[in-house]
Amino acid sequence: MNNCGKARAHTNIALIKYWGKADEDLILPMNNSLSVTLDRFYTDTKVTFNPEYTKDTLILNGEEVSDDEANKIYRFMDLVRERSQTSMYAYIESINYVPTAAGLASSASAYAALSAACNEALQLNMSKKDLSRLARRGSGSASRSIFGGFAEWEKGHDDETSYAHAIDANDWENELSMVFVVINDKSKKVSSRSGMSHTRQTSRFYQYWLDHVDEDIQSVKEAINNKDFKHLGEVIEENGLRMHATNLGAQPPFTYLVPDSYLVMEIVHQCREAGYPCYFTMDAGPNVKILTEKKNQQYILNALLQHFKEEQVIASDITHTGIEILE
Ligand code: ADP
Ligand code: DP6
Ligand code: CO
Repeated sequence: MNNCGKARAHTNIALIKYWGKADEDLILPMNNSLSVTLDRFYTDTKVTFNPEYTKDTLILNGEEVSDDEANKIYRFMDLVRERSQTSMYAYIESINYVPTAAGLASSASAYAALSAACNEALQLNMSKKDLSRLARRGSGSASRSIFGGFAEWEKGHDDETSYAHAIDANDWENELSMVFVVINDKSKKVSSRSGMSHTRQTSRFYQYWLDHVDEDIQSVKEAINNKDFKHLGEVIEENGLRMHATNLGAQPPFTYLVPDSYLVMEIVHQCREAGYPCYFTMDAGPNVKILTEKKNQQYILNALLQHFKEEQVIASDITHTGIEILE
């Protein structure tokens, strides 16, 4: 046994958002969320445990991450050690094929890949459910990146019951794609973690968010069952905007959106009016993701390219592939 494991996980984008924790330590969310896993963006992580190491080390994109930044990883590795009853520290080498901390869900692919790599390295034989629970402790959205296609994270009520599962869409995902408009790929000022915590604690609109999110989840599931793109799109657009509205109701208020985010929303409206259905969603950052049907993707790309540079506009399929073990 060489105590070494390598894994790949793709990022996912929530169509119904996770926004707010019921338990900040266990990372239990206030509401269920539902996502698609993307082909284009992923993280590869190799982890090596060795009894001679005296601390954990994280090399991200070829550079050692300082203790300050890596603290989250150390706490996560403590959980892995607890679970596997080992005292070995680890050397972690990770490459993000996605901008880090830019609202493009690097924390989702990162912790899903790290969970799968640890499972392999320590031969823990964890089920997908248990991997989802473990990944959740690193970053909530990572619980969904264990799976390909559509996934739902059930909020549950404790560590045992809070995990994600795949949702069967009868291969509908093959007909859909997501277009990313990268307005800013730099690290954001307000992390998802602190943004949602501040909003959950102070926003006058937060209860309204909670009161409607279950309906949204139900509607999305109906739309998936009926392969009803218009219905799906209308619900996810509303849900995403409502999440961003909660931030405006926080005290003090804040927003992740910038003028170009609104420009993309306007282009999406124009595409719809021209008869090309597509719908936007934004996360904890200014970048906009547009859900579309593959048959209409080219029209939407052309519309965006009139305003944005080629390298800012990236189309991705939805992948069926969940976490993968790499050699
Ligand atoms: P994002 O929108 O990219 O998910 P978050 O604020 O949720 O942004 O999370 C970003 C944080 O996730 C980073 O600051 C870092 O702590 C962690 N992270 C991202 N990629 C990796 C990686 N490959 N390995 C370890 N941690 C990572
Ligand atoms: C807006 O999973 O990044 O992208 O659990 O604190 O690590 P932590 O936060 P994270 O939050 C994601 C928030 C979101 C919506 C979503 O992905 O569901
Ligand atoms: Co994140």
